[in-house]
Amino acid sequence: MQTVSTRAALSKALIALKSGGKTLALVPTMGALHDGHLALVRHARQVADRVAVSIFVNPLQFGENEDLDAYPRQLAQDSQLLQDAGVDLLWAPTVAEMYPAGFATTIAVQGLDQVLCGANRPGHFDGVATVVAKLFNQVRPDAALFGEKDWQQLTIIRRMARDLDLALPQADRVIGVPTVREADGMAMSSRNRYLSPADRIRARELNRAMRVAIGAILAGGDQSRAMATLRRSILAAGFDRIEYAELRTAETLDDVAQWTGQATRLLVAAHIGGARLIDNMAIEPAMAIPPETISAA
Ligand code: PAF
Repeated sequence: MQTVSTRAALSKALIALKSGGKTLALVPTMGALHDGHLALVRHARQVADRVAVSIFVNPLQFGENEDLDAYPRQLAQDSQLLQDAGVDLLWAPTVAEMYPAGFATTIAVQGLDQVLCGANRPGHFDGVATVVAKLFNQVRPDAALFGEKDWQQLTIIRRMARDLDLALPQADRVIGVPTVREADGMAMSSRNRYLSPADRIRARELNRAMRVAIGAILAGGDQSRAMATLRRSILAAGFDRIEYAELRTAETLDDVAQWTGQATRLLVAAHIGGARLIDNMAIEPAMAIPPETISAA
């Protein structure tokens, strides 16, 4: 695996990597890699000849009082994981390389960025869209892969690729990969390491309660009652605050007042012990809810 940290070195490396018409998939990350990221890499290897991963903790997507300074940085460890996973190229620019002095342009995907996380983290998705557009232009991958855990982010990036007629990757080559979960259902996230052991145990209630709510809705139960039970269960488990718990259409993120079979996600953000956790799941008639997960304490 080659590691580059300047745009000049990146351009050179890409020429070699793409030579002979080889296709390239990009997995953008902020590092602190876990199995969820490695699942993206595995998927990337299936859709392209070569795989590039970027690691860049993007200051533009962090709000003033957010965890930019505390965000875990472990380049040597991440680099080893990527090498072992068969990645061809690691793109790890500095902040100055990504945003040279005088940088002044941002991308806003209006509407989609105003709800859910966007309503609570002003400017966050402008930062995400801007850096992802830059990564796409720098690497010009045939496909790019993102985790479904950040469903709103994935939706926004797909819309940006479509709206701006991005040639590489084409909008339909922005690929979402299902969330990788711990054995107790908790979605993997670099921020899970902020949790104390006790809060980590409490935090599993988030996904369990979501599965129960989805089960109730699929069974034809009253939607508002299911959502009220969801909120109660999350708070009873020890979460300090629920930022949102909503049903939204999968592609356009419109509010789903009453689920009638349309492609829908249940999306939740909640705070526990100083950590902000997000999760989302599809509501699909064919979805199997393992009974042991629903009844687990
Ligand atoms: O999901 C992330 O890790 C980041 O938001 C991304 C897509 C790498 C942009 O910085």
